[in-house]
Amino acid sequence: MPILAPSQEALRSAAAALVSGGLVAFPTETVYGLGGDGFNLQALARIFAVKGRPRFDPLILHIATLDSLAVVAALSSMDRALRNKLDALCARLWPGPLTLILPKQPRVPDLATSGLPTVGVRFPAHPVAQELIRLSTGVVAAPSANPFGYLSPTRAAHVQEQLGDQVQCILDGGPCPIGLESTVLDLTGSPRILRPGGIPRELIEGILGPVEGPPKDPGEVLRSPGQLQSHYAPHTGITLYSREDMIRLPYEASAAYLFFDRPSYDAWTQELSVAGVPVLELRERGTGRIRVLSPEGNLGEAAARLFELLHDMDKLGVSVIRAQWAPGYGLGTAINDRLSRATAGF
Ligand code: TXA
Ligand code: MG
Repeated sequence: MPILAPSQEALRSAAAALVSGGLVAFPTETVYGLGGDGFNLQALARIFAVKGRPRFDPLILHIATLDSLAVVAALSSMDRALRNKLDALCARLWPGPLTLILPKQPRVPDLATSGLPTVGVRFPAHPVAQELIRLSTGVVAAPSANPFGYLSPTRAAHVQEQLGDQVQCILDGGPCPIGLESTVLDLTGSPRILRPGGIPRELIEGILGPVEGPPKDPGEVLRSPGQLQSHYAPHTGITLYSREDMIRLPYEASAAYLFFDRPSYDAWTQELSVAGVPVLELRERGTGRIRVLSPEGNLGEAAARLFELLHDMDKLGVSVIRAQWAPGYGLGTAINDRLSRATAGF
């Protein structure tokens, strides 16, 4: 299907496709979304069908004005303390990579929320997403635009490869600046992170004080039904290592390596040269198979490049991807969450 630069004309025709029940892929600051009108049952059903997504995994509804929040969320049913928390989060973090789980308005279709009494709502920061939502119905359901269980797309070309012939068009906003999905925060009771993502926990805690989650016990994971272990997995198996173990790995021609930062990569090549592996030759031959997430160890850059590098490395035909954990704070929590899900099933 056509990949369109997001001109006014392209935005208008994409919005018209949404209004008439079609599906459109569009960029957000996190990942590309597979959008359909949030109130159109046929469009919602098509989203599940196109993704091969189980019906028990609810969709996020995307809005592009704060006023639209009351259209989908039953704000008057929330107690004062939670309303204050909601207001503080909206003022500080919206638009942005934060999805809030709130009590739903009765008019929101059960198909969108998988029958739950709650609804996931996000106000994305990306200008193309905002314009598309405003020009269409104001409430756009959009999961990440990937087949269920596979890596989320961070470029229009990823969507084209994975779902291209199933959408009416793909709006191309270039690479997604955040590169990881939104943080999902449940605000129906004491605040709890259901999915780590583009807004670090520390930022939320700076506004609300301590929050719970994400769930560590796999039995609890179904509170956010999408948090199945095998999510975000590339086809190639991944194994994960601490920095210490990563820099001591032997060199294998059939493996790919994903280092967190340049000093770790340098330490590895240092160890290999001590062991007699011709490192210069390895650098030249192995460039596609040996990658560094962020040379300077910048977590924002690492997050933005993670899915992109995994998409690329998945095409190399190697037998395994050996990857290094990120530091366990800030965006590193979301990076490590996606890395550990990428190993599930192998
Ligand atoms: O960054 C993002 O959030 C992207 C972009 C396109 O906005 N969207 C996205 O959607 O990642 P999706 O469908 O791939 O993931 C939505 C997550 C799932 O884990 C789902 O279970 C959870 O949000 N979710 C949605 N509604 C929920 C609800 N009412 N209660 C609990 N979890 C919910
Ligand atoms: Mg997804």
